[in-house]
This record gives sequence, C-alpha cells and structure tokens, in this order.
Amino acid sequence: MAVSLRPQQPDDMHLLTGGQSPFDDFGPASRTEPRPARLDADGGLAVIAADGQLAGDVSWHWTQWGPTAGSRCPMIGIWLRPEYRGHGIGTAAQAQVVELFFRHTTVNRVEAHTDVENVAEQRALEAAGFKREGVTRGAQWRDSTYHDGILYAVLRADPRPSLPA
Ligand SMILES: CC(C)(COP(=O)(O)OP(=O)(O)OC[C@H]1O[C@@H](n2cnc3c(N)ncnc32)[C@H](O)[C@@H]1OP(=O)(O)O)[C@@H](O)C(=O)NCCC(=O)NCCS
Repeated sequence: MAVSLRPQQPDDMHLLTGGQSPFDDFGPASRTEPRPARLDADGGLAVIAADGQLAGDVSWHWTQWGPTAGSRCPMIGIWLRPEYRGHGIGTAAQAQVVELFFRHTTVNRVEAHTDVENVAEQRALEAAGFKREGVTRGAQWRDSTYHDGILYAVLRADPRPSLPA
C-alpha cells in the first residue's frame, strides 16, 4: 500500500478525532493542535493514503531505559480513520516512521505498545519489522480500567521488510 507522511495541519484536526476503536478510548479528545513534525521531541505526522486523502496519524513519545540519553528511544503510535483500516496502511506508515528514526537520528531502538487483544496492530507491527518482546501487565489505563499490553521493538540491526513507499 502506497502511503506518505507529511506534517499535520490545523485543517486535519477535525478528521483526527481518535476514538472509534476499543483500543483507542482514552477519554474525550483534548488535542486540537497539530503535533510537531520533529523527531527529537514528542511529535507526529499525518498519514496520507494513495487517494491523497488523510488516512490518520502516526505519533511518538520518547522513553528512556537508563539514566543517560543513549538509552532514549521513541515509542510510536498510530490511529487510522475507520474507512482506511485493513488496507495495509498501518503496516506501511509504521514502517516509514521506523525508517525516519533510523535515518535521521542515532537511536538504536524504536518501540511500540499495543493491547493484548489488538490483533490488527500486532500483525501490522510484525509486518513492519517489529519483534514482540513481552507482556506489560496492567500497564495501560484506558476506558476506566487497566489493560495488559504487548511491548514491541525494532532494533537498528534487525532485518526490516522492504515495503512500497
Ligand atoms: C491498528 C491499525 C493501525 C492497523 O492498521 P491497518 O492498516 O488497519 O492494518 P493493515 O491493513 O496494515 O493490516 C495488518 C494486519 O492486520 C490484519 N488485520 C487488519 N484488521 C484486522 C482485524 N480487525 N482483526 C484481525 N486482524 C486484522 C491484516 O489482515 C494484516 O494481517 P496480514 O498482513 O497477516 O494479512 C488500524 O486498524 C487502526 O488504526 N485501528 C484503530 C486504532 C488502533 O488500534 N491503533 C493502535 C493502538 S496501539
């Protein structure tokens, strides 16, 4: 699936409402501003489908596994509008974000995390080159309760699929 990523624009916001998925119910949407399109801070990009329309957004926040900056890595997330799900866009968009981080930053690792029941995201991540690392028990507060998740990561040295741009 051919997809492209571009900076988010104010006009995108009404289509990037979040929700509409049992795995994306974090309460009322509070974000009205585009996420910054920068890799060295928490940010995000718009996902554009082959038809030129806004399919959703990818985002990232930085986590750290030790006291020094060398242990920092981004954790990515994605949300697609319902009509753009199930066409390979989630796989392609997340693979492109991984390439952005490995080409333009020095990170060794890109992470993702999803609900134990979110099979579509698990398959999309694995198709994008992520490896399943383990279960995070009770890690995510969502929809008024704690949920178990699965931690995924792809390392710079890992083989990555070649997907159409
Ligand atoms: C999860 C999401 C990003 C996946 O993107 P997508 O474009 O729909 O997924 P893809 O078309 O790339 O499909 C990836 C794989 O999942 C499978 N899949 C797709 N929808 C599925 C579903 N509802 N149930 C089970 N498997 C599904 C596909 O068959 C494909 O597997 P395959 O490569 O073995 O054939 C997208 O569905 C979405 O935005 N969902 C709502 C928000 C969300 O859950 N975000 C992630 C939160 S961590």
